[in-house]
Amino acid sequence: MLKKSRIRSKPEEVIQKIEKRLDHLRALCAELFEREETITLEIGCGHGHFLTEYAKAHPKSKCIGIDLLTGRIERALRKKEKIQKKNLYFLKAEALEFLWVIPEKIQIETYFLLFPDPWPKRRHHKNRLLDFDFLSLAAKKSVVSCPFYFRTDHADYFEWGREAFVNHPDWELRAKVNWPFERASVFQEKADSYQSLVAIKVNPTKTKETPEQALSESP
Ligand SMILES: C[S@@+](CC[C@H](N)C(=O)[O-])C[C@H]1O[C@@H](n2cnc3c(N)ncnc32)[C@H](O)[C@@H]1O
Repeated sequence: MLKKSRIRSKPEEVIQKIEKRLDHLRALCAELFEREETITLEIGCGHGHFLTEYAKAHPKSKCIGIDLLTGRIERALRKKEKIQKKNLYFLKAEALEFLWVIPEKIQIETYFLLFPDPWPKRRHHKNRLLDFDFLSLAAKKSVVSCPFYFRTDHADYFEWGREAFVNHPDWELRAKVNWPFERASVFQEKADSYQSLVAIKVNPTKTKETPEQALSESP
């Protein structure tokens, strides 16, 4: 995953590649979002099983699924073709990059993060998506009271994520989890058991980060 501190230390040609990717994503977003609106975002949607069913059940929500892997997004898009739902979209995008580039007129009204890569080894924990910077950006891009639904079968990552929400001023962990819609994702099907949490965005966030800042600030 792309982290701010890691971008700054990248060689110039890598930074240029990232900028090119961000430009491409901006162009896609310009096509996708023509007016002020709120969206439901599934991060790491895989083959799109969950979001496809969610979009069918919530025809008034504009549902966007993003994933890093082209093959997974292609399969998700085939699902969309079959059901012909106009409120469902899948994009190949990295989570932070997507949040950076979505226009200001777009706000997230619901987040789903289902069975994210757990990065179990301690030295890889820095790759875990749920951390303070990510939650700041996620809060900045969302409406007040936006729920963030997180589910994983990895006990250590669940605790890590729970702490990340508890320690963040923009999010409040709900004591009781009311999961809004049940449809097993591919990884949920394989899991023997799993845990879920929901956190609610509580404050207007003060985070100011833009891609330009992340790319240009010195370490
Ligand atoms: C373990 S799979 C889970 C897929 C799906 N959510 C499920 O439950 O079946 C994690 C997915 O997250 C995607 N992913 C990992 N890091 C990501 C990131 N930073 N931005 C977007 N997608 C990411 C991976 O490509 C992968 O498809």
